Amino acid sequence: MSIQSHSDKRVTTHVLQEMKLRSEKISMLTAYDFSMAKILDDAGIDILLVGDSASNVIAGHETTLPITLDQMIYHASSVIRGVKRALVVVDLPFGNYQGDSKNALQSSIRIMKESGAHAIKLEGGEFVQESVRRIVSAGIPVMGHLGLMPQSIYKFGTYTVRATEEMEAAQLIKDARLLEELGIFALVLEKIPANLAKQVAQTIRIPVIGIGAGGGVDGQVLVTHDMLGITKEFEPRFLRRYASLYEDMKKAFENYHSDVKSGKFPTDKESY
Ligand code: KIV
Repeated sequence: MSIQSHSDKRVTTHVLQEMKLRSEKISMLTAYDFSMAKILDDAGIDILLVGDSASNVIAGHETTLPITLDQMIYHASSVIRGVKRALVVVDLPFGNYQGDSKNALQSSIRIMKESGAHAIKLEGGEFVQESVRRIVSAGIPVMGHLGLMPQSIYKFGTYTVRATEEMEAAQLIKDARLLEELGIFALVLEKIPANLAKQVAQTIRIPVIGIGAGGGVDGQVLVTHDMLGITKEFEPRFLRRYASLYEDMKKAFENYHSDVKSGKFPTDKESY
């Protein structure tokens, strides 16, 4: 298998736009801590998303709703310390932008100032337009997120594919155009039909990054713990597992446990 080389040039929103123009696909994965961010950055991943999926895979909550702004800032500042090249984008947590655009701007400013991150992401279209307008006008790069929006899970009631009906698909295209007009630099589309995602990517000029949205978009994102096989129960069709770390880590822990119990660890060579 050939390894895609990457330049050491820092990834900026401008670089991502150039990648779209020359049809170079964009890679994006989630990161929540320093050690993982360093590995992801060394591997050449273009965008690290400090996702509110930390609420699920780090904190063990059922949904993304409970995570707080302080917790997102803590994760983001840990990630930033591990990164030399990638663009770091941070999710605005639930409750920090939906109702009040001034709160949205204040929360975004706190993320940028206190973590050193490069951009924020938020979910939704026309309902959050005032927040997007205000944040963008403060000079903060914004990534949008449409389709399946996990922060609205109690409204949807299910994590199944979105926008399969004509009306919802038309609203999604309208929202994507509106977000582009408002000045977002990229858009995530989650769990929607591949044809619709491709149509959006061909309609708007900014990069479109898909998760469960097929190959016709400008880049792909996955939750790192899922693609590494650390999480086991989550098995959507779109998820490709690149490792089986749950099994590998469990084996390592079992070996350590048994070496400690039997006295095989440490040896004289491992002692002072
Ligand atoms: O929080 C997250 O991990 C995300 C991705 C699923 C895009 O928003």
